[in-house]
Amino acid sequence: MKIAVFASGTGTTLQALIDNQVYYDYQISLVVVNRVCQARERAEDSGISTLLSKDWMQIDQVLAEHQIQMIVLAGFLAIIPQWFCEKWDKKIINIHPSLLPKFGGKGMYGMHVHKAVVSAGEQQSGCTVHYVSAEVDGGSIIAQSVVPVMQDDTPDSLAQRVQQTEKKLLPQVIGDLCKH
Ligand code: GAR
Repeated sequence: MKIAVFASGTGTTLQALIDNQVYYDYQISLVVVNRVCQARERAEDSGISTLLSKDWMQIDQVLAEHQIQMIVLAGFLAIIPQWFCEKWDKKIINIHPSLLPKFGGKGMYGMHVHKAVVSAGEQQSGCTVHYVSAEVDGGSIIAQSVVPVMQDDTPDSLAQRVQQTEKKLLPQVIGDLCKH
């Protein structure tokens, strides 16, 4: 299955997807970024085509040129327009660093999530892979991994633990979706 990965940041999740390609039936044919970021460098270093754009019509066209079958959001920090979500219904998945529906929605991304989880005194956190709909973090859940929150956890230490599980769960889920 030919996939496109959308990213905005350091791209460690993208790197895990690149490194795991050999174990699963997916191929990253395109990386789309909406800003200059390390994720784009990682894609270029691996010889993957990249597109830097915020123009959703252009993005849609380039996806078609690369015959993309599924889109994976891996730390992509932008709101996707409704028409695009509807066109790609059940073909866009996202990884979110909490156990949705907890700690999701607008403004809840990256370290904001881990800070909120630690402040709330939660005993467990984790990550969620879900289909993307027009409602932010509101699409149906595909899979979750749970991690404990330790008493002495800081947002940073929790983020590290959650990100380790994200890097296992996301390639597995994509691999499973390839079979269907
Ligand atoms: C990941 O932890 C991902 O779950 C999170 O951003 C990080 C990206 O890190 N995504 C969200 O918060 C989306 N709501 P990376 O740039 O190193 O892959």
